[in-house]
Amino acid sequence: MKRGCLWLLLILGLGMPLVAFSAGPPGDKVLNPGAELWKEVRGRQPAPATTQVQGRDTAVLINPWGERFRDYRRDRYIRYSGYLLAGVVGLLLLYHLLHGGLEVAESGRKVLRFEATERIVHWLLAVVFLALAVTGAILAFGRFVILPWLGGEAFSVIAAVSKQAHNLLGPLFIVALLWFFVLFVGRNLPKLVDLLWLIRAGGMLGGGHPPAGFFNGGEKIWFWILAVGGAVVSASGIVLDFPSLVEGRDPLVLALVVHGAAAVILIAASFGHMYLGTVGVKGSLQGMITGLVDEAWARTHHALWYEQLKGKKKAVERNAGE
Ligand code: HEM
Repeated sequence: MKRGCLWLLLILGLGMPLVAFSAGPPGDKVLNPGAELWKEVRGRQPAPATTQVQGRDTAVLINPWGERFRDYRRDRYIRYSGYLLAGVVGLLLLYHLLHGGLEVAESGRKVLRFEATERIVHWLLAVVFLALAVTGAILAFGRFVILPWLGGEAFSVIAAVSKQAHNLLGPLFIVALLWFFVLFVGRNLPKLVDLLWLIRAGGMLGGGHPPAGFFNGGEKIWFWILAVGGAVVSASGIVLDFPSLVEGRDPLVLALVVHGAAAVILIAASFGHMYLGTVGVKGSLQGMITGLVDEAWARTHHALWYEQLKGKKKAVERNAGE
């Protein structure tokens, strides 16, 4: 199981950056035989062209935003998102090789950490998020990797399915994110103790485990990256799903740039979260699957929460193996 999670992280993390690197030198441009003509046309802009065809953009001969977006996407977006994702995976692997995962000797007694609804909403959000990440990566990078590899016919099917899935899953992500936010925001409000936890880098500096409440400073940062980044991808995604909401093309290009940038930041941050939730901090995943964590895990990683829990009825104590 643990090995499976590491593989998942590796495949997701290295797959997309490899796509970016294998996209070839992004600067290669094919010479347009009509370049001279279009240069002439561009020289006359912004004087409006005249046409009898009535409709949005019908008098626009050259859309400079569109060209700039294509260059940005090919020369910057693909390249730098590849660097970011590969860098995060590389750092996580290096950390794991040097440091290994955190492990606490089990006590055998369990305490309740997550209710069933909380776990269901977490996994709904996680599955939808990962499906959006994979289909989004196919739409962004597929042309550079899948197309030359599998050919036009196969790629057109894969891209069409990815596009439909991405468009349909977007609204579900918004619902899951809002539901998740409502359930968890109360436990993610910043406190002074979180700052102290962060200053000690969760125990990497100064030794030992700094005290933390239900969620520690690092988890709260992930929650707020997800909340803010999720709101940005959701708002820009709605514009892209329903283009008639805005006037003209420029807002759509802007929405695509913002959507792509926020999505890649979220995916990079989610790698860190998935690492810590599986092999990075052993015993955490159990809590998100069964709802129960070992008492020693709770006392070590979330000492302040554990103190509050003691004496509360909610703390379901069970013997191991029950
Ligand atoms: C598939 C891989 C994933 C695994 C193994 C995983 C695992 C976990 C675990 C174990 C926890 C509980 C941590 C604790 O007890 O303190 C947790 C919490 C959480 N997970 Fe995941 N998760 C995954 C994917 C995701 C994804 C894709 C998202 C978001 C899109 C996400 C968002 C969260 C958030 C926001 C929390 C609560 C942290 C907080 O509110 O501060 N998880 N996850």
